[in-house]
Amino acid sequence: MPTYQRIDSCHSTRIDDKNMELEQLRRSYADGFLQIDQFPRNPMDAFKTWFEEAKAADRPDWLEVNAMTVATSSASGDVSARILLLKKITADGFVFFTNYDSAKGIHLAENAQAELLFYWPHREQQIRIHGSTEKTSAALSDEYFHERPRGSQLGAAVSPQSSLVDSREQLVESAIKLESELNGAEVPRPANWGGYLLRPNRFEFWQGRPSRLHDRIVFQISNDGWQITRIAP
Ligand SMILES: Cc1cc2nc3c(=O)[nH]c(=O)nc-3n(C[C@H](O)[C@H](O)[C@H](O)COP(=O)(O)O)c2cc1C
Repeated sequence: MPTYQRIDSCHSTRIDDKNMELEQLRRSYADGFLQIDQFPRNPMDAFKTWFEEAKAADRPDWLEVNAMTVATSSASGDVSARILLLKKITADGFVFFTNYDSAKGIHLAENAQAELLFYWPHREQQIRIHGSTEKTSAALSDEYFHERPRGSQLGAAVSPQSSLVDSREQLVESAIKLESELNGAEVPRPANWGGYLLRPNRFEFWQGRPSRLHDRIVFQISNDGWQITRIAP
């Protein structure tokens, strides 16, 4: 028996079996293709089209089409990523809402650069959006805060997002106490809760293709407007 086979058989543990399954998990992408000359010249338009198409094909029971990964980093280069919900698309960019004192809020205060990432498996599509963030106006944060269900408003008001808490019960108690103190009055938006606007300076539209020869169309902002190019998969 050749040596490599003996080594293989020595290591055939359950963990190895699982790794084998992971290695064999692969999907062939064949649903779409991207042609640079037929792509919208403005990436915001392209994003909106893809978003609407992803939403149209959405199965609301299992997919949140506006869920996106938001990657941030500290001034020293420590990175972090988490899912947030895209809540507004404006002429200037993309808006999400969160706690300004959270881990991500601290990152964004140190380094305003961030990347948004959407993955829509049912469309075999990914969009990366890089840009610079800034806090939205207090008026916009107020408007969105008061559109949220009252329970979410109370939750945001009592949750010191990303900080240590003694217990879940303590958070629930704080929400019940606040609700009773308010006695039906409007929940004030906490000063440390609000929106961020990401102003995009780079987009990448990715479409899965057969044999891993995927399509990648990149938009990069320049003094002459958006430059559109194709990059290798
Ligand atoms: C589907 C989904 C949607 C979420 N939407 C938000 C959101 O819009 N805002 C938010 O602050 N956290 C949201 N979260 C929670 C974040 O992923 C994260 O746990 C939280 O913002 C704290 O992140 P941080 O400690 O990195 O600041 C969402 C999580 C999931 C799974």
